[in-house]
Amino acid sequence: MLSIAFVTQKGGAGKTTIAACTAVAAAAAGEKVIAFDLDPQGSLGSWGERRSGTGPSFDNLTVERFPENRLKELPAIIEALGRKGFTVAILDTAGVDNATARIAMQCADMCLMPARPSRLDIEATGATFRAVMRMGKKVSFVLNQCPPTPKSTRALEAAQGLKMLGVLADPMMTTRADFQDAIAAGLGVTEYAPEGKAASETVALWTWIEKQLRGMHVTQAAVGY
Ligand SMILES: Nc1ncnc2c1ncn2[C@@H]1O[C@H](COP(=O)(O)OP(=O)(O)O)[C@@H](O)[C@H]1O
Ligand SMILES: [Mg+2]
Repeated sequence: MLSIAFVTQKGGAGKTTIAACTAVAAAAAGEKVIAFDLDPQGSLGSWGERRSGTGPSFDNLTVERFPENRLKELPAIIEALGRKGFTVAILDTAGVDNATARIAMQCADMCLMPARPSRLDIEATGATFRAVMRMGKKVSFVLNQCPPTPKSTRALEAAQGLKMLGVLADPMMTTRADFQDAIAAGLGVTEYAPEGKAASETVALWTWIEKQLRGMHVTQAAVGY
């Protein structure tokens, strides 16, 4: 079971949007995915309720609101779901540094921190980043809502610094209406506009995440863990 937590104190960064779209892309790639909404605001849960229909990504993706009073059980629940055949857990959290976010981080093999490519937005992630680092978790920023202009200096500058530190997910995600329209329709972008650029970015992001995590597992196996 690979667990991926979307965390960052900054609201509006794109945690829910990227979590939902990544969950769908993972399910379409053949993973059996559970997506837990840990945010009392409930956006991911509502998106899950809007989903209906058939097809591989519907069969392979379960979306649930996780009850706050059972938070301490989350690690055990994820482990049990892994034994039941789920292969990926996606955890969407609120934009606050609280007990829920901490438990999500603890459960995660990788913490992803969506951030807009601006100095203020990246600076605002400092506390979350430090908390994840202290836990010794794999962490990457996902630069999101980047301007569609190919050579946006602001986005490239933000990317350069994070890339140098080895904490930048590939690719950067662009501001595209498909992301908003897909979420409104209860879909992932890969379902909503499969040929679109937002879908390509999302597939590339899932491929990158999978490589980081499965690569990690292969390495551990190779050294005898
Ligand atoms: N790549 C994107 N392109 C266009 N709009 C986006 C993108 N990512 C997020 N948004 C929009 O930004 C807002 C905040 O996104 P959301 O996923 O709710 O962030 P968070 O969960 O971090 O608070 C929403 O209106 C969402 O539709
Ligand atoms: Mg959210």
